[in-house]
Amino acid sequence: MTTAPENPVDPAALATLPKAELHLHIEGTLEPELILELAARNGLTLPFPTLDSLRAQYEFSDLQSFLDLYYANMAVLITEADFADMTRAYLARAQEAGVQHAEIMFDPQAHVARGVELSTAVNGIAAALASSVADFGITTELIAAFLRDQPEASALEVLEQLLDMEAPIIGIGLDSAEVGNPPSKFIRLYRRAKEAGLRLVAHAGEEGPASYVEDALNLLGVERIDHGIRAVEDRILVKRLVAEQVPLTVCPLSNVRLRAVDTLAAHPLPQMISAGLNVCVNSDDPAYFGGYVHANFAALVAEFAWDADTVEKLAGNSVRSSFASEGRKAEMLADIRAWRAAQS
Ligand code: ADE
Ligand code: ZN
Repeated sequence: MTTAPENPVDPAALATLPKAELHLHIEGTLEPELILELAARNGLTLPFPTLDSLRAQYEFSDLQSFLDLYYANMAVLITEADFADMTRAYLARAQEAGVQHAEIMFDPQAHVARGVELSTAVNGIAAALASSVADFGITTELIAAFLRDQPEASALEVLEQLLDMEAPIIGIGLDSAEVGNPPSKFIRLYRRAKEAGLRLVAHAGEEGPASYVEDALNLLGVERIDHGIRAVEDRILVKRLVAEQVPLTVCPLSNVRLRAVDTLAAHPLPQMISAGLNVCVNSDDPAYFGGYVHANFAALVAEFAWDADTVEKLAGNSVRSSFASEGRKAEMLADIRAWRAAQS
């Protein structure tokens, strides 16, 4: 099922494969060109003020080395227009990548900590998302991701502010430095979010151990795991994830660039598919990791010579694992079937 070397899908068709993107940090879509443009607009002098000097920083040894640059580059986001422009730039690229539905995370605490009003970030992103269907044909949802290396009290405070201002969020997530910041730190946060009717996701098993995946399910009640690749190290956990069909939003190019895996050839995704796990392909922070979601598919097809049935299955998983309405899911699944029919 995972490999059919004699009949790999045409790489050119991967950008038209209809798909949902479920693991995407909007701040991770800030391309170097836009970083310099926003810096100039806001009168900021950056530590790496040219494209070449900035691009030279995009070599990472682990998650933290990436996060250091990712947070530093957010300094250029000051006004609602900055957040809106970043979001529109992502939607334009997502449209080219065949994305029909995007569930977009943002990091509210990272902006508040820099002195940017929460409403500036929320309103700017929300303004772009409000016209995503009209402008790009993409349905969207917004997820507030909380920084697991910060205290739970800070997350709870920001969540209350988001609820008070009726921010248009569908759910919460958990991101940033994973190791040493287990799900057990955030039990009250997730209880409060659930009580407020929000959907629950969390990063787990990216750099952290398989036990964090289990704890995110058991202690936080998450419906979807972001990454989850280290789950393969625990056979009993894999059995459970298969039985419950827990969605895992895998990000292959991210895992290679952050050295969560040695090479793409060594990525556990083929093994995860064979095991019957509910996996889908996502881009995480595409401006930093070498490409948007279709580039992730293209790298996988180049590496594993997957056939059209395999990529159809992965795209279908992304749609079925989304928080879109049943009607919207049915539309997208029909588009995926039409794409598959055109491949043979
Ligand atoms: N924040 C942005 N990208 C992230 C990732 N891949 N893991 C954890 N936190 C993140
Ligand atoms: Zn992520």
